[in-house]
Amino acid sequence: MKYNALLEMQKHPEILEIMEHHSFLSLKNIRHHGRLNCYGHTVSVAEKSYRLARVLRQNPVLAARAALLHDLYLYDLRTEGPGFHIFRHPKISLVNAKKYFNVSKIEHDAILRHMFPLTPVPPRYAVSIIVSIVDKYAAVLDYAKCIRFMFKKRIKHR
Ligand SMILES: [Fe+2]
Ligand SMILES: [Fe+2]
Repeated sequence: MKYNALLEMQKHPEILEIMEHHSFLSLKNIRHHGRLNCYGHTVSVAEKSYRLARVLRQNPVLAARAALLHDLYLYDLRTEGPGFHIFRHPKISLVNAKKYFNVSKIEHDAILRHMFPLTPVPPRYAVSIIVSIVDKYAAVLDYAKCIRFMFKKRIKHR
């Protein structure tokens, strides 16, 4: 049977605690990267970070938790939010994550530094670097999906 990282992740109570929490579930209502929502994006980053951390012999549970929390900014950036979203949302996500969960120093670093190099301080730990790289990779895939969807729609309307 094919390895399913999402199923594997959900066996860990530390991960499930976040995935079942109302603050995390509310990400389903927050648009992110085109027509996708923040929930889909963070679950995808968590799944990929979990897999990569296992391969690199890092802590996959920490990687998945940090990834699930990295975009917990909880506002729709098109209609609300503080401005300069790209630079400010890591700090806002960290404040929200600490409000609802016990955040370790590695998770703290991964959430706060995930936008490097757009924010100046690089991630410090292997798990933080994994989350930051996977986030960018997932963002590219998200936008590719959007572009594919737009092209399909155009072809249909011809
Ligand atoms: Fe982000
Ligand atoms: Fe992200």
